[in-house]
Order: sequence, then C-alpha cells, then structure tokens
Amino acid sequence: MQKTAKILVTGGAGFIGSALTRYLIQETSHHVLNVDALTYAGNLTSLREVEADPRYTFKQADIANTSAVEDIITTWKPDAIMHLAAESHVDRSIDGPAAFVQTNVVGTFNLLQAANAYRKSLPPAQQEAFRFLHISTDEVYGSLGPEGYFYEDTPYAPRSPYSASKAASDHFVQAWWHTYGLPVLMTNCSNNYGPYHFPEKLIPLVLLNALHEKSLPVYGKGENIRDWLYVEDHAKALYRVLSQGVPGEKYNVGGNCERTNLEVVHTICDLLDRKRPRKNGTSYRDLITFVEDRPGHDHRYAIDAAKIRDQLGWEPAHTFETGMHATVDWYLQNDWWWKPIREQKYAGERLGHT
Ligand code: NAD
Ligand code: DAU
Repeated sequence: MQKTAKILVTGGAGFIGSALTRYLIQETSHHVLNVDALTYAGNLTSLREVEADPRYTFKQADIANTSAVEDIITTWKPDAIMHLAAESHVDRSIDGPAAFVQTNVVGTFNLLQAANAYRKSLPPAQQEAFRFLHISTDEVYGSLGPEGYFYEDTPYAPRSPYSASKAASDHFVQAWWHTYGLPVLMTNCSNNYGPYHFPEKLIPLVLLNALHEKSLPVYGKGENIRDWLYVEDHAKALYRVLSQGVPGEKYNVGGNCERTNLEVVHTICDLLDRKRPRKNGTSYRDLITFVEDRPGHDHRYAIDAAKIRDQLGWEPAHTFETGMHATVDWYLQNDWWWKPIREQKYAGERLGHT
C-alpha cells in the first residue's frame, strides 16, 4: 500500500473505529474519511485528538442507505475501505434484532456493491491495489467448551441475533471475493476493552457502576469466559492486515487473555480499591450482584491468533494486567467523555431480557 493512501473507515466514531482512526492519523501519513451514522454508540468526542488534522474528514451517513454509500465512494475515491460500522451489542440484539440486520447485513451488502462498482471503474493497477477490510468477530464461530480454540477454518455457528448478522455479513464478503474478485480481507477478533468503550459492555459498565456505588451485574454465575484484547492492539492488527494481508484471506485476532467474567469484575474492583477507595472503606467487590443469565449466553470464546502472528508478525503489546491498569486510569481521568453518555444516552440499566 502506498505511503499516503485514502482510507475510508466506517464506524469511525465507535469504540474500535475511533481507536483505529486515531492510530491512522497519529501513526501513519494516510488520509481518513470517517463515515458514521452517529447512532447511540457513535461519539465524535472520541476523535477530539485528531479532528483538526487536515488528513481527517467526517461524513455522517447511514451505510444502509444505498445512494448515500454510492455517492460517498464515487466522490471521495478511496484506495481502501476498513468496514467497522455495526450494531455491536449482543444484549441490544436480543431486545431489537431488526437494526442488526439492517446495518450489519444490508449495510455491508451496500458497501460491497458500491466498492466493487467503483473499483471496476479504476485503471488495472489501482483495481489490483484496492482493498476492502471487513472487521468481524469471533462470535460467528459460536460457543466453546472448556478446551480448544477458534481457528480461521472453524465452522460458523452463530447463536445470537448479533453474531448471526455478523456471520451473514462475513459470508457476503467472502462471496464478493469468490464471485466478483473484490480484493477483500477479513478479521475475526475477540473481546476488546480500553479507552472510549461505550458503557453498555461489561468492563466500562462495571467500572462506572462501581464509581457510582451501583450494583455490579454479573450474568449467571460469572463463569463465562472471554478472551480480552486491548483496543489499541486491535487497531494495529487491523492496519497490519490491511497493509500486508493477502486478499481473500481471513485472520483471527486475539489477546490470548482468557478470563471468566467474575475474574474480570474482581480485577476492576481490586484496581479501584487501590486507585479510588470507597468512602466507607469496604471493597467494591461488595457491590457484585449475580443476576439472571443472558439468554443463549455463549460459554467461552478463545482465539488462536497464530496465523496473524506467524504470517504478518503481529502480536499484542498489552497483557490483560497492563491493559486493565491503563483502562481504569483512563476512565478515572476522563469523566468529560463518559459523564454526558451516562447522563444522556445510557445510565447502566439491564438490557437483553427476553
Ligand atoms: P461500536 O458499537 O462501539 O461502534 C459502532 C459504530 O458504528 C458507531 O460509531 C455507530 O454510530 C456506527 N454505526 C452503527 N450503525 C451504523 C450505520 N447504519 N451506518 C453508519 N454507521 C453506523 O462498535 P465497536 O465495538 O467499535 O465494533 C466495531 C466493529 O468491530 C463491529 O463491526 C464489531 O462487530 C466488531 N468487533 C467488535 C468487538 C468488540 O469487542 N467491541 C470485537 C470484535 C469485533
Ligand atoms: O467476542 C467479541 C464480541 O465481544 C464483539 O463481537 C461484540 O461486539 C462485543 O460487544 C463483545 O460481546 P460480548 O457479549 O462478549 O460483550 P459484553 O461486554 O456484552 O459481555 C461480556 C461478558 O460479560 C459476557 O459473557 C456477558 C457478561 N456480562 C455483560 C454485561 C453487559 C455480564 O456478566 N454483565 C453485564 O452487565
């Protein structure tokens, strides 16, 4: 990929998209067009560090809007597309799956169609250099028992409306490679955490509930396992795949940091006990409350990330311990970011009951 390329990032106001956009603007010389609908999950404040950079542009648009997508691509003429825009929260997909089909399936289809039509209008060398990176999830592989890992060739077995919509979008992306020759790449990543994480997901929810002296909801017995990756490591992996990955290939991305949910919550409580002790002198662990389980709750996710490590030389810089320190410090120091979200968008109530 050339040194100064034009990269269209969808979902750049979201958690991972904003980390990627900050990385691309601060660590490379590429231009970024952030296309984002600014749903409840989109926050332009997450881009404060880069919004004034002349290489950064924002365009508000819904990827489910066919003509808007076509117009943006033919007008801005990207060299590459990194597609992150999605409805991303499993609990919300239980409450309202329609938006997941619309954005994750229809939106991805629109992008593929528009990208392919645009690519075909380019001279041959540019057609070959064009890239479409689809950012997906390990949840498409389903749920693991106590042993084993997700590999790139693990059969798909999605079990939530969210993962079903992501699996559908992954299949569309593969189809555009095989049928139309669109130079696609795909990544399937495990659970991310870190700064600017919308506080509906486990780690920021528990952290902010603790600071507000609210109960810390653990689904079931807290024995479900997730494989955690610091978001800035994910952003670097995505750029590595875009710039060095082989078209048509998919890459699993993970932190090799398996923890039960209860271990994660204990880690947050213990860090807060040291960094921001409770006024009554007791541990934040006293706020833990075991609540009704998530319907269809996947038991365990664990990624084998050997392919991206061996073929592209990517490895995460953070361990779970260093990443959690950084995350807790960031939330303690940046209430300007999360306070308006907790007050105006989402105050931490339970989502995803059937
Ligand atoms: P997020 O919910 O934080 O952000 C999603 C962004 O997409 C928001 O800015 C939102 O405004 C935007 N968006 C939603 N619908 C849109 C539409 N119709 N048109 C345009 N923009 C729209 O999500 P995230 O956690 O940053 O996840 C980004 C991508 O990475 C998703 O595709 C998700 O499936 C995938 N992923 C996430 C994780 C994770 O742990 N968060 C792990 C693996 C993969
Ligand atoms: O694995 C990758 C996926 O990770 C991404 O594709 C999704 O976009 C992302 O949201 C995440 O999905 P999870 O469902 O694993 O994340 P969540 O933070 O919602 O939940 C993590 C675990 O914590 C899960 O086992 C459910 C549990 N949980 C969650 C919440 C919100 C609780 O115990 N209590 C809670 O209040």
